[in-house]
Formats: sequence, C-alpha cells, structure tokens
Amino acid sequence: MKKIRVHRLCLLFLLLGTTLRVVPAEASGKQTRDRDRFVAKLMQRMTLEEKVGQLCQCAGGGDLTGPNNERIPRTEPVVKGEIGSMLNILGLDSVRKYQQAAMQSRLQIPLIFGLDVIHGYRIGFPLPLAEAASFDLKMIEESARWAATEAAAEGCNWTFAPMVDVSWDARWGRVMEGAGEDPYYGARVAAARVHGFQGEDLAAENTIMACVKHFAGYGAPIAGKDYNSVDMSLGHFANFYMPPYKAAVEAGAATVMTAFNDLNNIPCTANEFLLRRLLKERWGFDGFVVSDMNAVSEMLAHRYAADGADAAAKALNAGLDMEMVTLNYHTHLSDLIRKGVVKEAVLDEAVRRILNKKYELGLFADPYRYCNEARAAATLRSAAMRDAARRMAERSMVLLENHNAALPLSPQVRRVALIGQLAKTQSDMLGSWSLWSDHEGVVTLYDALLKRGVEVNYSPGYDFDKNVIIDLEGAMAQAAKSDVVVVALGERSLESGERCSKADITIAAEQQKLVEELRKSGKPVIVLLMCGRPVIFNQVRHSASAILCTWWLGCEAGTALCNVLWGDYNPSAKLPMTFPAQIGQVPLYYQFKSTGRPQSPEGWTTSYIDTSYEPAYPFGYGLSYTRFAYSELAVSEGDGEGVHARVAVTVTNTGTRAGEEVVQLYVRDEVASITRPVKELRGFEKINLQAGESRRVSFDITDAQLGFYDNALNYVVEKGDFTLLVGTSSRDLQQVAFRLK
Ligand code: GLC
Repeated sequence: MKKIRVHRLCLLFLLLGTTLRVVPAEASGKQTRDRDRFVAKLMQRMTLEEKVGQLCQCAGGGDLTGPNNERIPRTEPVVKGEIGSMLNILGLDSVRKYQQAAMQSRLQIPLIFGLDVIHGYRIGFPLPLAEAASFDLKMIEESARWAATEAAAEGCNWTFAPMVDVSWDARWGRVMEGAGEDPYYGARVAAARVHGFQGEDLAAENTIMACVKHFAGYGAPIAGKDYNSVDMSLGHFANFYMPPYKAAVEAGAATVMTAFNDLNNIPCTANEFLLRRLLKERWGFDGFVVSDMNAVSEMLAHRYAADGADAAAKALNAGLDMEMVTLNYHTHLSDLIRKGVVKEAVLDEAVRRILNKKYELGLFADPYRYCNEARAAATLRSAAMRDAARRMAERSMVLLENHNAALPLSPQVRRVALIGQLAKTQSDMLGSWSLWSDHEGVVTLYDALLKRGVEVNYSPGYDFDKNVIIDLEGAMAQAAKSDVVVVALGERSLESGERCSKADITIAAEQQKLVEELRKSGKPVIVLLMCGRPVIFNQVRHSASAILCTWWLGCEAGTALCNVLWGDYNPSAKLPMTFPAQIGQVPLYYQFKSTGRPQSPEGWTTSYIDTSYEPAYPFGYGLSYTRFAYSELAVSEGDGEGVHARVAVTVTNTGTRAGEEVVQLYVRDEVASITRPVKELRGFEKINLQAGESRRVSFDITDAQLGFYDNALNYVVEKGDFTLLVGTSSRDLQQVAFRLK
C-alpha cells in the first residue's frame, strides 16, 4: 500500500484546525530581536546563583493545591534573587509585596505569579468537562478569556491551565478538568483555551500565560489511580494522547507542565524524549517547562533518583526548566554546574526561556503592570462575566432522557418538590479546582426557583455522610403537594478532581432508591445528575421521567438550571466522555479497535459473558427538546488543494421549537498499515435550526481527516477505502463509502 508521507508540521494545522493568529512577520521579528538582545545582556550580568534562582518557584499559603511541605515564602529569598516565580500568591497586596522584594534584588528581575485558574477565577464558570460538553469552541475560548481578564486584574501572570489530558477512564477523578476522551476534540479545545488565556499579546493587561498540562499521558494511569504509572506504545500515545498537547503548543502556549507519572518507565519530570526530543526539538516549543508540585523530589519515590542532587541533574538535563516548590534546583544546581555534572549551557537555556517569557509579559518594562487597584475594582466580578458564566452553563447540560416530553416544564408548573441537598449547596456548584472562586453569590437551584416565583417544597432527600435517605415520608409529602419532583443527585463536587480516583463510579444505591420511591408519587420525576465525571446510575435511568447531566455549573448554576428546565434555553450539549453501564467495562471509550473478533452478542468475540459491552450513553450523545432528522448523505469529489472529497448531509429540525444540534463526522480507515479504531471523530459543527428548518452541512475530507501516526511517530495518509459516518452521536450515524486514490 503506497503511503503518502505528509510533512508533520504543515499538516498539524489542518489536523487540528487551529486558526493561527499570525502577528505580522516584521513586527514579531523586531520584537524577538529586541527581546533576545535584552535577555542576552541581562544574562551576561547574572551570577551562577542568580541564574539558578530563576529556575525556582516557591508556593504561598498552605497545602492549597498539593502537599506544599518545602517552603513558605518570605521576602528575603526573593531579595537575594533565589526565587524566580511564585504560585498561590493571592491578591494585589501580596503580589505587590513580593514584586517589591524582587525590585530590591541586585538585578531587579521581576517575579512571575502563577495560579490554578482552571474554570473561572473569582467568578466560577462550569467545570472544563462541562464546558467541553457544549461543543462550542467560541464559548470555551470566551470562558478562558474571562478567566484571564479577571485573574490578570489581580496580579496573576500565569495560569496552570489548560489541562489537556485525554482520558478514557472515569475512575480517574481529574477527568473533570479536561475535555474528555477524544484526542481530535481535545486538541481543538486545547487550542481554544490557550487562545482564550493568552489572547494576541502576553504584555496586554488582560492576558496571562497558559500552561499545557500534564505532559504527558497523565490521563491514562493504570487502574484509573491518580499518579499511577502510565505505559503505552509510542503509536498509541501519538494517536490517542499526544494531539491535544501538540495543538496547545502549536497555538502558542507559553509554558508546559510535566506530569507526575512515569511514561514508559521514565518519570515525565525527567523524560528527555518528551521534553527535549518531542516538545522542544520536534515541535519547536520556545517557552519553558515547569514541574508539577514536588515532582522533582518525587523522583526519589519513583526510585529513579538517588537523592536531591541526582534528581536535579536528571531533571534539568532532560529539559525541565523550572522546579515547582521543592528545593533541589535551589540546593544543588550551583554545585552540580561547578562539578560539570550539568553544563552551564544547559542552565543558560532554561534561564533564557524563562526570562524570554518575563520579557514578553512586559514585566521588565513595568513589574507592576498587573497590579492596578483601579483596574481590579473595575474588572473583578463583573455582571458581564456572570452572564457569560450562565450562558456557558446553559450550553453545558446534557439531556440524557426525556420520556413523554417531561421537559421542558410548562409555565403552569408552579409547585416544585425540590429533593436533595445538592440543590441548596453553594460550594458544590463550583466543582473542584475552584479554589479562588467566590462561594457567596453562587446561585443554587433553590435560590433560582424562589426567584422565579415558584412554590418550592424542599426536602434534603439523602445524607452523603451517612449514605442514608433522609425523611422519605417528608419527601413524599412534598411530592404529593407539588406539580413536579426535581431531584438533585450524584456525587459531592469534591469527589472528583485531583487525588479523587474511585474504584467504583456507581451512584450510591440509597440515592438511586430515593428516585424509585419518589416515582411512586405519580408525579413526573426530573433527575438533575450533578457530577464531575461519568457515573453509573442504572436504577435511576429506568425510573426517572427525565435526566439532565448538569455537571457542576459554576456561579450561575441555579439560573441556568431553571432556564433549561422551563425551556428558556433548549439543551444542546453532547457527552465528551462515554458513560459506562457497568464499572467492569471501564475504561470504556468509543474509538476502540475492531480486533480480530469484533464485539457482538455472539460468543467467541471481544465481549463479556456477564454483561453487555454497550455504554449507558455513548460519546457525542445528547438529546434536545426538539428532534433532528438526517438525510441525503452524499460524498462528492474534492476541489483539489488538499481537499480529497466533501461529505454533506441535510439536517432538519422536525420538532416544534428551535434547537441546536452538534453534527458529527467520524471516519473509519477500512484497511491500514496499523490497526485503527472502528471510528474516530474528525469533524463537528454546531448549528441552530428553527422548527421545520433544514440545512445542508458539509465537511471537507483532507489529510487531517484520513491520516494517523505510524509507530515511528510519522503522520501518514494511506490510499484505500474509508467509511465516512455522520450523525448525532458516535452511535447514531449514517455512513457512506469513500476511496482515496
Ligand atoms: C497540583 C496539580 C497541578 C497544579 C499544581 C499547582 O498538584 O497536579 O495540576 O497546577 O499542583 O497547584
């Protein structure tokens, strides 16, 4: 079979569809030359210790985001030039205090301040996984833009986001932080978030550096256990986990964070293949690499380093530019350089990468450019930001079931039995990784219902701590005197996130039993599934009138929930991760290989004898209050210029109300030089159709839709037969054949 070997770089833009924001060459060239001259002159004046200082990041506060056991910041090390960056320093006063200390140092090199601004800052936005369900890249970028605007107004220069780790395993608690299981979609979301955080100019007062994390493969820990080993072939990594990291770098991400795990037996923190061969050489990454918290010291626990000096030498030589929190660089690097264990040129490269970004942030020109009280007062917690959070929340909810059009609620519904503590807790609405977001002011469903003028008959429903139903009799009485029952159930928001792996993602039986009991009220039972990850809830699936997967929706959760319940907004989101039906199926994902014995109900195939291999809900699935029909699927000749073909389908809104649909394109390579998945997402378009309206949606079939990485990491496109599949989810598809000649 003849292969077409396509140049990796040019193809990447096609594959990931990133729209490059290109600064006019002459401007960027002069800026770069000015920067390089400035940094070179500065480095000539730096002592060895001052250079090492730039590689050291110190944490403020307690163990806010991890076991910060090595140093609580004081200003003295900053004045001595021993610290180049800080994290978890909150508020303009603190930022200014440490920057003033840096201005007292001999060379007055400004600090950069990092924070985990993951989904909003003071104003909490929906979880990243919830935002990914919107399949609305523009809104996802806007969400990051708002977060950057607010964080920069309070002194932050750098967020440790986007987290772009693909994951097929809902036992891993950090799926809440990413964009789900698909590498193509994850790559598009990664680029959108980088553009949102960084804008067009890092020196602007409302942009911050992005940090692509966690490099690499962190989302595939064995057994779904956070921090566990990751072991996969290079080909598997390249096709299913690599694309989002690469897309984020191609989108111009200023920094990358290494992952805690080892990948193929080498800790990522000192993985020369990842950091130098792939990231800096093959991809041309010109920013800097920071470790995850304590990860340099943790190489001793990995039993990959004998002591701190060994860890420091291995990490810096492998391409790790900055150490987060632990003190191995601070303690050992000068000595290691003097002994020749690490070459000063290696140190210089790291220093240059870091100083380049400080220059690009404009911090040498004005160290206090992000410390402006008036701008902070005018920017923080704006109404426009809250409104954006609400719009994002409305577009993040996935309608999973809707029997007999139980939703939307009619305007005549005026008495609601609201069951479940999650309907009233502000903190849960924010979800994990919302450390800096305001809890007060979060609109819960309870608040929003009252504000809507609805009679709210509340009952707590279920005790998470004791795992028991609370006052079932009372809940039934509330149901009896109401028009509808709305049950908020799921997991507590801090049950997903870092260090929150679960061996079982099934919703507690007692919670599910509550729904079955409430169904006996004879009233419609609407279930709001609040979670940070795919969960298993089979009993509820068969006893609820309707089910909305609401994730954690941020500061305007209640408002958005009411707007969707009453149909002011017609839900349009799709699942960015497969929802398993049994825990034993996990990891479960849609882009599986056919194998030599493709799964089927017959025996002697890749299936189970004790349960189905089918998910509860597949990737890309989500209902609407209206219905869409797909027809006239056809493929036509491409017009050259890299477009091999064009596939088109007519989508019709056959319901009685307007609605949005995410039209999805999947591709199957029928025969290839490596085994390929049964289908892979290679395009999507979100469209809005009025009732009765039809639209012809088409997708260009280019190398980006047809190619894959071979086992030597070359992106190849092979001639032969393909199947193009178009539809409303990864399961509900129509298909047409296509041959690449
Ligand atoms: C944490 C997380 C990482 C975060 C960092 C700083 O351990 O793994 O995602 O950015 O520490 O808080």
